[in-house]
Amino acid sequence: MERKSVGDCEGLTFWLAQAEDYPEVMSMSEGIYGGNDYLPHRYHEWLGEPGRTVLLARSSQGKLVALESSLVVDEGTSVVVEGLRVCVSARGRGVAGIIQRFADSYVRQLYPFTIKMKRLTRSDDELAKYSLLARRAVLSLVGEAEYYNSFLSHLKNKLCSAGAASALTVSVPEMVPLEKEQLRDVLLDPELHSRVQLPGGAIIQDWQPLRPVEGNLEILARRNLTWLADSKDAPVFLSFYTPPYPVPYNGGSMRVNIDMFGTDHVLAQRALVGLLQRVFEKGELKGTVVVHVYMATSLWETLQGFCEGHTGVTRHRDYWEQLFMEKEF
Ligand SMILES: CC(C)(COP(=O)(O)OP(=O)(O)OC[C@H]1O[C@@H](n2cnc3c(N)ncnc32)[C@H](O)[C@@H]1OP(=O)(O)O)[C@@H](O)C(=O)NCCC(=O)NCCS
Repeated sequence: MERKSVGDCEGLTFWLAQAEDYPEVMSMSEGIYGGNDYLPHRYHEWLGEPGRTVLLARSSQGKLVALESSLVVDEGTSVVVEGLRVCVSARGRGVAGIIQRFADSYVRQLYPFTIKMKRLTRSDDELAKYSLLARRAVLSLVGEAEYYNSFLSHLKNKLCSAGAASALTVSVPEMVPLEKEQLRDVLLDPELHSRVQLPGGAIIQDWQPLRPVEGNLEILARRNLTWLADSKDAPVFLSFYTPPYPVPYNGGSMRVNIDMFGTDHVLAQRALVGLLQRVFEKGELKGTVVVHVYMATSLWETLQGFCEGHTGVTRHRDYWEQLFMEKEF
């Protein structure tokens, strides 16, 4: 069946992305995020995800010039925009603004009246027209998969010696896994936000901000996350990893994202060790592995010091930040 565009605006035509567009989308995406781009892995998954619209913009000659995805979350009250990109030859001419205006109007037709806020995360500067809800620090590590076991031993030794030094004065709980029902209770507990200081009131899962509300539990469940907390019912520290996925970096690497919520320095170290151990114990990771850890800014210094001193797994980037922003829709 012949494909039909879904509209046009300011000299571009807009199309719902399909599987057959993948090669063009990939050629438009070369070099994005220093090789840490998630889209090569997520593209096909995105096309079938409930509540998500992936739009492509084409020039009058049919050339693919931009992509943007909009995911309706927070029980229909927010739209999270992701994946925005413009082909190199069309940058600097306002195309990012055009595709966003079209995507907003398209999503408004699909969900009339419900969406109140448009939300996004990014690593660069704040964007005009958006208000900043939160900043998180990112610690990025890199190493070949085979070095991570000895890196983990290195971290555990540090934890043990720190523990031995402080055993008489503090007792720090172990991090425990959260199963589905416990997770539900923890996430829907109205006290969660104040106990773990959720950034901007959201769980940010691999750059995707989701308010801890019933309607988002299914979205989080789809992501197949592994959760660790300091307590099964009233945690002050919550963390998880997103299953590793391939990225183009260094000719093909694996990317691991760890998200942390809470400000306790020792619990952050324990969460890092516990989650990395779970990531690597399956023995499935090969080649270069890049780990990004997203956390409260006050934790970065401690966590980066904790990870120092190993020759196989080293810092991938200097201090950088994830910004969470929103504007009225
Ligand atoms: C960032 C990028 C999408 C900008 O595209 P562009 O068409 O060259 O941007 P322009 O400066 O010409 O367009 C300006 C408009 O886009 C908006 N814009 C630019 N970058 C944006 C971003 N990262 N997120 C949201 N809006 C953005 C501006 O607010 C402005 O909107 P307005 O016209 O409504 O005022 C493009 O450089 C790109 O594809 N980079 C690589 C991928 C990337 O970094 N994506 C950003 C993800 S956060």
